[in-house]
Amino acid sequence: MIPSRQVTAKVAANVKLCRDHFRLVLSLPAFAPTKPGQFIQIACCDLLALDADHHDHDWTPGTSIKPQDIELTSPIAMIRRPFSLAGRRDKDGVELDIIHRVVGGGTQYLAGLTPGDDVSILGPLGNSFSLPAPDQLAILVGGGVGIPPMIYLASQLAGRPAVAFAGALCRDLIPLTLSANEYEVAEFHAHGIPAILATDDGSFGYRGFITQALEQFLDRALAPHFFPAGLRPIIYTCGPEPMMKRVADIAIHRNIPCQVAAERAMACGMGTCQSCCIRVKKPDPAKTPLPGSDWCYRLTCTDGPIFNAADLLW
Ligand SMILES: Cc1cc2nc3c(=O)[nH]c(=O)nc-3n(C[C@H](O)[C@H](O)[C@H](O)COP(=O)(O)OP(=O)(O)OC[C@H]3O[C@@H](n4cnc5c(N)ncnc54)[C@H](O)[C@@H]3O)c2cc1C
Ligand code: FES
Repeated sequence: MIPSRQVTAKVAANVKLCRDHFRLVLSLPAFAPTKPGQFIQIACCDLLALDADHHDHDWTPGTSIKPQDIELTSPIAMIRRPFSLAGRRDKDGVELDIIHRVVGGGTQYLAGLTPGDDVSILGPLGNSFSLPAPDQLAILVGGGVGIPPMIYLASQLAGRPAVAFAGALCRDLIPLTLSANEYEVAEFHAHGIPAILATDDGSFGYRGFITQALEQFLDRALAPHFFPAGLRPIIYTCGPEPMMKRVADIAIHRNIPCQVAAERAMACGMGTCQSCCIRVKKPDPAKTPLPGSDWCYRLTCTDGPIFNAADLLW
Protein backbone atom coordinates (compact mmCIF):
# COMPACT_ATOMS: atom_id res chain seq x y z
CA MET A 1 0.00 0.00 0.00
CA ILE A 2 1.27 3.52 -0.86
CA PRO A 3 1.18 5.62 2.33
CA SER A 4 -0.26 9.10 2.65
CA ARG A 5 2.51 11.53 1.66
CA GLN A 6 3.52 14.73 -0.13
CA VAL A 7 3.66 14.31 -3.93
CA THR A 8 3.73 16.49 -7.02
CA ALA A 9 0.72 16.17 -9.32
CA LYS A 10 0.28 17.58 -12.83
CA VAL A 11 -2.78 19.60 -13.76
CA ALA A 12 -4.68 17.57 -16.40
CA ALA A 13 -7.59 20.04 -16.66
CA ASN A 14 -8.96 23.09 -14.89
CA VAL A 15 -12.50 23.83 -16.05
CA LYS A 16 -14.77 26.64 -14.93
CA LEU A 17 -18.06 25.04 -13.87
CA CYS A 18 -20.08 28.07 -12.88
CA ARG A 19 -19.57 31.61 -11.57
CA ASP A 20 -16.97 30.86 -8.87
CA HIS A 21 -16.31 27.09 -9.09
CA PHE A 22 -13.63 25.18 -10.96
CA ARG A 23 -13.06 21.47 -11.48
CA LEU A 24 -9.35 20.82 -11.12
CA VAL A 25 -8.18 17.42 -12.40
CA LEU A 26 -4.82 16.33 -10.97
CA SER A 27 -2.87 13.55 -12.62
CA LEU A 28 -0.32 11.32 -10.83
CA PRO A 29 1.52 8.11 -11.75
CA ALA A 30 0.24 6.55 -8.47
CA PHE A 31 -1.57 7.63 -5.32
CA ALA A 32 -2.55 5.88 -2.09
CA PRO A 33 -6.05 4.34 -2.03
CA THR A 34 -8.73 6.90 -1.21
CA LYS A 35 -12.34 6.81 -0.02
CA PRO A 36 -15.21 9.32 -0.20
CA GLY A 37 -15.00 11.87 2.61
CA GLN A 38 -11.20 12.04 2.56
CA PHE A 39 -9.39 15.23 1.61
CA ILE A 40 -6.00 16.45 0.42
CA GLN A 41 -3.95 19.52 1.35
CA ILE A 42 -2.93 21.52 -1.71
CA ALA A 43 -0.09 24.04 -1.87
CA CYS A 44 -1.96 27.00 -3.35
CA CYS A 45 1.12 29.01 -4.29
CA ASP A 46 4.25 28.56 -6.37
CA LEU A 47 6.62 26.99 -3.81
CA LEU A 48 9.64 27.30 -6.13
CA ALA A 49 9.02 31.03 -6.67
CA LEU A 50 8.76 31.49 -2.92
CA ASP A 51 12.09 29.68 -2.38
CA ALA A 52 13.77 31.80 -5.07
CA ASP A 53 12.44 34.99 -3.49
CA HIS A 54 13.87 34.25 -0.06
CA HIS A 55 16.69 36.53 1.06
CA ASP A 56 17.95 38.06 4.28
CA HIS A 57 16.39 41.29 5.45
CA ASP A 58 18.63 44.33 5.79
CA TRP A 59 17.77 45.44 9.29
CA THR A 60 19.25 48.25 11.29
CA PRO A 61 18.42 48.07 15.00
CA GLY A 62 15.87 50.71 15.91
CA THR A 63 14.26 50.71 12.43
CA SER A 64 11.37 48.61 11.14
CA ILE A 65 11.89 45.88 8.53
CA LYS A 66 11.14 46.98 4.99
CA PRO A 67 8.79 44.33 3.59
CA GLN A 68 10.11 43.00 0.31
CA ASP A 69 9.58 39.23 0.30
CA ILE A 70 6.55 38.06 -1.70
CA GLU A 71 4.87 36.66 1.40
CA LEU A 72 5.02 40.07 3.11
CA THR A 73 3.82 42.10 0.15
CA SER A 74 1.23 39.87 -1.64
CA PRO A 75 -1.89 38.02 -0.51
CA ILE A 76 -0.22 34.60 -0.80
CA ALA A 77 -1.65 31.40 0.67
CA MET A 78 1.47 30.32 2.58
CA ILE A 79 -0.25 27.37 4.26
CA ARG A 80 -1.68 24.46 2.30
CA ARG A 81 -5.46 24.50 1.86
CA PRO A 82 -7.73 21.47 2.43
CA PHE A 83 -10.02 20.19 -0.35
CA SER A 84 -12.33 17.16 -0.39
CA LEU A 85 -11.87 14.61 -3.12
CA ALA A 86 -14.71 14.96 -5.64
CA GLY A 87 -13.73 11.87 -7.61
CA ARG A 88 -10.95 9.53 -8.63
CA ARG A 89 -10.16 7.50 -11.75
CA ASP A 90 -7.49 4.80 -11.93
CA LYS A 91 -6.36 4.21 -15.50
CA ASP A 92 -2.76 4.60 -16.70
CA GLY A 93 -2.06 6.34 -13.39
CA VAL A 94 -4.48 8.21 -11.15
CA GLU A 95 -6.71 11.23 -11.73
CA LEU A 96 -8.11 13.11 -8.75
CA ASP A 97 -10.98 15.59 -9.07
CA ILE A 98 -11.20 18.68 -6.88
CA ILE A 99 -14.05 21.16 -7.14
CA HIS A 100 -13.23 24.46 -5.52
CA ARG A 101 -14.88 27.82 -5.10
CA VAL A 102 -12.74 30.96 -5.39
CA VAL A 103 -12.99 32.72 -2.04
CA GLY A 104 -9.46 34.04 -1.41
CA GLY A 105 -5.81 34.06 -2.42
CA GLY A 106 -5.30 30.28 -2.41
CA THR A 107 -8.33 29.35 -4.48
CA GLN A 108 -7.62 32.32 -6.80
CA TYR A 109 -4.19 30.75 -7.42
CA LEU A 110 -5.79 27.36 -8.16
CA ALA A 111 -8.19 28.98 -10.63
CA GLY A 112 -5.21 30.25 -12.64
CA LEU A 113 -3.53 26.83 -13.04
CA THR A 114 -3.32 25.44 -16.57
CA PRO A 115 -2.76 21.90 -17.91
CA GLY A 116 0.83 20.78 -17.36
CA ASP A 117 1.39 22.90 -14.23
CA ASP A 118 2.86 21.16 -11.18
CA VAL A 119 0.92 21.14 -7.91
CA SER A 120 2.22 19.89 -4.57
CA ILE A 121 -0.38 17.87 -2.68
CA LEU A 122 -0.41 16.05 0.65
CA GLY A 123 -2.70 13.13 1.28
CA PRO A 124 -4.96 11.33 1.37
CA LEU A 125 -6.00 12.69 4.77
CA GLY A 126 -8.79 12.08 7.26
CA ASN A 127 -11.32 9.31 7.72
CA SER A 128 -14.11 8.44 5.28
CA PHE A 129 -17.86 7.90 5.04
CA SER A 130 -19.11 4.42 5.97
CA LEU A 131 -21.05 3.11 2.99
CA PRO A 132 -24.74 2.21 3.51
CA ALA A 133 -25.92 -1.34 4.22
CA PRO A 134 -27.84 -3.05 1.36
CA ASP A 135 -31.22 -2.27 3.01
CA GLN A 136 -30.44 1.42 3.51
CA LEU A 137 -31.50 4.35 1.33
CA ALA A 138 -28.54 6.73 1.11
CA ILE A 139 -29.63 10.37 1.23
CA LEU A 140 -26.76 12.64 0.15
CA VAL A 141 -27.14 16.29 1.19
CA GLY A 142 -24.54 18.74 -0.12
CA GLY A 143 -24.53 22.52 0.08
CA GLY A 144 -22.16 24.79 -1.89
CA VAL A 145 -18.56 23.63 -1.48
CA GLY A 146 -19.94 20.61 0.39
CA ILE A 147 -21.25 19.16 -2.88
CA PRO A 148 -17.86 17.75 -4.12
CA PRO A 149 -17.53 14.92 -1.53
CA MET A 150 -21.13 13.92 -2.34
CA ILE A 151 -20.13 13.43 -5.99
CA TYR A 152 -17.32 11.06 -4.96
CA LEU A 153 -19.65 9.24 -2.57
CA ALA A 154 -22.26 8.88 -5.34
CA SER A 155 -19.65 7.22 -7.58
CA GLN A 156 -19.27 4.45 -4.96
CA LEU A 157 -23.03 3.87 -4.64
CA ALA A 158 -23.87 2.68 -8.16
CA GLY A 159 -26.66 0.08 -8.00
CA ARG A 160 -27.62 1.00 -4.43
CA PRO A 161 -30.78 2.95 -3.57
CA ALA A 162 -29.82 6.61 -3.15
CA VAL A 163 -31.06 10.12 -3.70
CA ALA A 164 -28.98 13.32 -3.78
CA PHE A 165 -29.93 16.77 -2.51
CA ALA A 166 -27.78 19.73 -3.57
CA GLY A 167 -28.28 23.34 -2.59
CA ALA A 168 -26.72 26.66 -3.54
CA LEU A 169 -27.46 30.35 -3.24
CA CYS A 170 -28.46 30.60 -6.91
CA ARG A 171 -28.20 28.75 -10.24
CA ASP A 172 -24.85 30.42 -11.06
CA LEU A 173 -23.29 28.82 -7.98
CA ILE A 174 -24.30 25.20 -8.58
CA PRO A 175 -21.07 23.32 -9.48
CA LEU A 176 -22.97 20.56 -11.28
CA THR A 177 -24.02 19.68 -14.84
CA LEU A 178 -27.66 20.71 -15.08
CA SER A 179 -30.13 19.50 -17.71
CA ALA A 180 -33.69 20.36 -18.76
CA ASN A 181 -34.89 17.58 -16.44
CA GLU A 182 -34.04 19.07 -13.07
CA TYR A 183 -33.89 15.63 -11.40
CA GLU A 184 -31.21 14.49 -13.87
CA VAL A 185 -27.86 15.88 -12.82
CA ALA A 186 -25.09 14.15 -14.79
CA GLU A 187 -22.77 13.68 -11.79
CA PHE A 188 -25.47 11.67 -9.95
CA HIS A 189 -27.51 10.36 -12.90
CA ALA A 190 -24.39 8.52 -14.17
CA HIS A 191 -24.69 6.31 -11.07
CA GLY A 192 -28.49 5.92 -11.27
CA ILE A 193 -29.10 8.50 -8.51
CA PRO A 194 -31.91 11.07 -8.88
CA ALA A 195 -31.11 14.57 -7.62
CA ILE A 196 -33.19 17.27 -6.00
CA LEU A 197 -31.72 20.74 -6.36
CA ALA A 198 -32.58 23.85 -4.39
CA THR A 199 -31.53 27.47 -4.70
CA ASP A 200 -32.14 30.10 -2.04
CA ASP A 201 -33.43 32.54 -4.68
CA GLY A 202 -35.44 29.98 -6.68
CA SER A 203 -33.38 30.45 -9.88
CA PHE A 204 -33.17 26.64 -10.27
CA GLY A 205 -35.10 23.76 -8.72
CA TYR A 206 -36.83 24.06 -5.35
CA ARG A 207 -36.99 27.64 -4.00
CA GLY A 208 -35.58 27.68 -0.49
CA PHE A 209 -32.98 25.93 1.63
CA ILE A 210 -31.97 22.41 0.69
CA THR A 211 -32.81 21.44 4.28
CA GLN A 212 -36.44 22.44 3.64
CA ALA A 213 -36.54 20.25 0.52
CA LEU A 214 -35.04 17.41 2.57
CA GLU A 215 -37.67 17.82 5.31
CA GLN A 216 -40.48 17.77 2.76
CA PHE A 217 -39.05 14.62 1.21
CA LEU A 218 -38.91 12.93 4.60
CA ASP A 219 -42.25 14.32 5.89
CA ARG A 220 -44.25 13.38 2.83
CA ALA A 221 -42.69 9.92 2.94
CA LEU A 222 -41.80 10.20 -0.73
CA ALA A 223 -39.34 7.35 -0.31
CA PRO A 224 -41.92 4.56 -0.80
CA HIS A 225 -43.01 6.33 -4.00
CA PHE A 226 -39.52 6.28 -5.50
CA PHE A 227 -37.85 3.35 -3.77
CA PRO A 228 -38.78 -0.16 -2.63
CA ALA A 229 -40.59 -0.18 0.73
CA GLY A 230 -38.68 -1.17 3.85
CA LEU A 231 -35.51 0.77 3.12
CA ARG A 232 -33.96 2.45 6.16
CA PRO A 233 -32.74 5.97 5.40
CA ILE A 234 -29.19 7.10 6.20
CA ILE A 235 -28.06 10.69 5.65
CA TYR A 236 -24.62 11.90 4.50
CA THR A 237 -24.00 15.63 4.57
CA CYS A 238 -21.38 18.29 3.87
CA GLY A 239 -21.73 22.05 3.46
CA PRO A 240 -21.81 25.28 5.44
CA GLU A 241 -21.95 24.63 9.19
CA PRO A 242 -25.48 26.10 9.75
CA MET A 243 -26.78 23.82 6.97
CA MET A 244 -25.10 20.74 8.45
CA LYS A 245 -26.37 21.57 11.94
CA ARG A 246 -29.91 21.74 10.53
CA VAL A 247 -29.45 18.45 8.64
CA ALA A 248 -28.11 16.87 11.84
CA ASP A 249 -31.15 18.15 13.81
CA ILE A 250 -33.53 16.82 11.15
CA ALA A 251 -31.82 13.42 11.25
CA ILE A 252 -31.63 13.20 15.06
CA HIS A 253 -35.27 14.28 15.42
CA ARG A 254 -36.34 11.47 13.05
CA ASN A 255 -33.93 8.91 14.46
CA ILE A 256 -32.09 8.65 11.13
CA PRO A 257 -28.35 7.88 11.26
CA CYS A 258 -26.37 10.76 9.83
CA GLN A 259 -22.69 11.17 8.91
CA VAL A 260 -21.39 14.74 8.81
CA ALA A 261 -18.26 15.88 6.90
CA ALA A 262 -17.12 18.76 9.12
CA GLU A 263 -15.15 21.55 7.48
CA ARG A 264 -13.18 23.48 10.11
CA ALA A 265 -10.40 25.95 9.28
CA MET A 266 -7.27 23.80 9.00
CA ALA A 267 -3.57 24.60 8.92
CA CYS A 268 -1.54 21.36 8.98
CA GLY A 269 -4.26 18.78 8.18
CA MET A 270 -2.25 16.13 10.07
CA GLY A 271 -3.04 16.55 13.76
CA THR A 272 -0.15 18.83 14.70
CA CYS A 273 -1.37 22.43 14.94
CA GLN A 274 -4.65 21.81 16.88
CA SER A 275 -6.43 24.50 14.82
CA CYS A 276 -9.36 22.30 13.77
CA CYS A 277 -10.85 21.31 17.16
CA ILE A 278 -14.48 20.29 17.30
CA ARG A 279 -16.53 19.39 20.40
CA VAL A 280 -17.92 15.87 20.62
CA LYS A 281 -19.79 13.86 23.25
CA LYS A 282 -17.58 11.50 25.23
CA PRO A 283 -18.64 7.86 25.12
CA ASP A 284 -17.51 7.45 28.77
CA PRO A 285 -17.45 10.67 30.87
CA ALA A 286 -15.37 8.90 33.57
CA LYS A 287 -12.41 8.42 31.25
CA THR A 288 -9.73 10.82 30.01
CA PRO A 289 -9.47 13.34 28.46
CA LEU A 290 -11.20 15.67 30.94
CA PRO A 291 -12.55 13.05 33.37
CA GLY A 292 -15.89 14.16 34.78
CA SER A 293 -16.85 16.08 31.68
CA ASP A 294 -19.33 14.65 29.18
CA TRP A 295 -17.61 16.21 26.20
CA CYS A 296 -14.12 16.60 24.76
CA TYR A 297 -12.38 18.02 21.74
CA ARG A 298 -11.52 15.99 18.68
CA LEU A 299 -9.43 17.05 15.69
CA THR A 300 -11.40 17.44 12.49
CA CYS A 301 -8.38 16.56 10.34
CA THR A 302 -7.38 13.25 11.92
CA ASP A 303 -10.40 12.10 14.00
CA GLY A 304 -12.66 13.37 11.20
CA PRO A 305 -13.66 15.00 8.98
CA ILE A 306 -16.52 12.47 9.15
CA PHE A 307 -18.40 12.35 12.47
CA ASN A 308 -21.72 10.86 13.52
CA ALA A 309 -24.19 13.73 13.80
CA ALA A 310 -25.39 12.45 17.18
CA ASP A 311 -21.85 12.76 18.63
CA LEU A 312 -21.20 16.35 17.55
CA LEU A 313 -21.61 19.31 19.90
CA TRP A 314 -20.14 21.69 17.23
C1 LIG B 1 -11.83 19.10 5.12
C2 LIG B 1 -12.13 20.29 4.22
C3 LIG B 1 -12.54 20.07 2.93
C4 LIG B 1 -12.80 21.16 2.07
N1 LIG B 1 -13.21 20.89 0.80
C5 LIG B 1 -13.45 21.92 -0.05
C6 LIG B 1 -13.84 21.66 -1.39
O1 LIG B 1 -13.99 20.51 -1.83
N2 LIG B 1 -14.04 22.74 -2.20
C7 LIG B 1 -13.87 24.03 -1.76
O2 LIG B 1 -14.06 24.96 -2.54
N3 LIG B 1 -13.51 24.29 -0.49
C8 LIG B 1 -13.30 23.27 0.37
N4 LIG B 1 -12.91 23.54 1.67
C9 LIG B 1 -12.73 24.94 2.06
C10 LIG B 1 -11.39 25.44 1.53
O3 LIG B 1 -10.33 24.78 2.21
C11 LIG B 1 -11.27 26.96 1.73
O4 LIG B 1 -12.24 27.59 0.94
C12 LIG B 1 -9.90 27.43 1.32
O5 LIG B 1 -8.98 27.06 2.31
C13 LIG B 1 -9.88 28.93 1.14
O6 LIG B 1 -8.54 29.31 0.87
P1 LIG B 1 -8.25 30.73 0.22
O7 LIG B 1 -6.79 31.00 0.39
O8 LIG B 1 -8.80 30.80 -1.16
O9 LIG B 1 -9.12 31.70 1.08
P2 LIG B 1 -8.74 32.40 2.47
O10 LIG B 1 -8.22 33.76 2.17
O11 LIG B 1 -7.94 31.48 3.33
O12 LIG B 1 -10.19 32.49 3.08
C14 LIG B 1 -11.24 33.20 2.38
C15 LIG B 1 -12.49 33.14 3.21
O13 LIG B 1 -12.95 31.78 3.32
C16 LIG B 1 -13.08 31.43 4.69
N5 LIG B 1 -12.71 30.02 4.89
C17 LIG B 1 -11.50 29.47 4.72
N6 LIG B 1 -11.53 28.16 5.03
C18 LIG B 1 -12.78 27.89 5.40
C19 LIG B 1 -13.46 26.72 5.86
N7 LIG B 1 -12.84 25.57 6.04
N8 LIG B 1 -14.78 26.84 6.13
C20 LIG B 1 -15.42 28.00 6.00
N9 LIG B 1 -14.83 29.13 5.57
C21 LIG B 1 -13.55 29.07 5.29
C22 LIG B 1 -12.15 32.35 5.44
O14 LIG B 1 -12.56 32.53 6.78
C23 LIG B 1 -12.28 33.63 4.65
O15 LIG B 1 -13.41 34.35 5.02
C24 LIG B 1 -12.66 22.49 2.54
C25 LIG B 1 -12.24 22.71 3.86
C26 LIG B 1 -11.99 21.63 4.70
C27 LIG B 1 -11.56 21.87 6.11
S1 FES C 1 -5.40 21.03 10.98
FE1 FES C 1 -3.68 20.94 12.29
S2 FES C 1 -4.40 19.67 13.89
FE2 FES C 1 -6.04 19.62 12.47
